[in-house]
Amino acid sequence: MSAVLDDPMFHLRPMRDSDIAAVMAVELRAYPHAWTEGIFRDCIRVGYQCWVATRGDDLVGHAVMSVAVGEAHLLNICIDPASQRQGLGRRLLRRMLRCAGELQADTAYLEVRAGNVAAQALYESQGFVQVGQRRDYYPAGEAREDALVYAKTL
Ligand SMILES: CC(C)(COP(=O)(O)OP(=O)(O)OC[C@H]1O[C@@H](n2cnc3c(N)ncnc32)[C@H](O)[C@@H]1OP(=O)(O)O)[C@@H](O)C(=O)NCCC(=O)NCCS
Repeated sequence: MSAVLDDPMFHLRPMRDSDIAAVMAVELRAYPHAWTEGIFRDCIRVGYQCWVATRGDDLVGHAVMSVAVGEAHLLNICIDPASQRQGLGRRLLRRMLRCAGELQADTAYLEVRAGNVAAQALYESQGFVQVGQRRDYYPAGEAREDALVYAKTL
């Protein structure tokens, strides 16, 4: 993680429409079930918190969160596989949680695939606790995968 903390080229900023092609490239590399361009476009249009992580000229990650009536919902957080395990995901998550607090949210929620142990470890390291489980929530090839619901008081 210190590699990133010391990296003057690393930067977090709001996502723009012009970022979406680069965001999609990361999304497709990182997820077997990726969002579409249209979803990102809609999230920006409706005013969700949409952020990107850049390193120099490269876009290396993104996150999307909705905030309303005191609740923040982290809808997506993603780091390019080539840039994972360097502390970027944690920095991006912390930034999103700061945003949520600034927008008067008192609780942050998210859902994560039951098999996504990397993301679960990240969330738990930031104080999220599992508060529920949705059976067969996500598509997973021919089958379905449970979602674990996590929450954190801000
Ligand atoms: C989950 C994800 C965002 C983590 O980003 P990252 O930049 O690699 O994570 P960081 O380097 O900041 O790691 C933070 C903590 O997360 C946990 N973690 C991250 N990757 C992990 C892995 N492969 N295995 C186990 N724990 C992991 C560790 O607790 C780590 O802390 P540590 O380095 O002190 O041990 C990244 O793996 C990713 O984009 N995955 C694909 C998309 C995705 O699944 N998003 C979440 C959807 S709910």
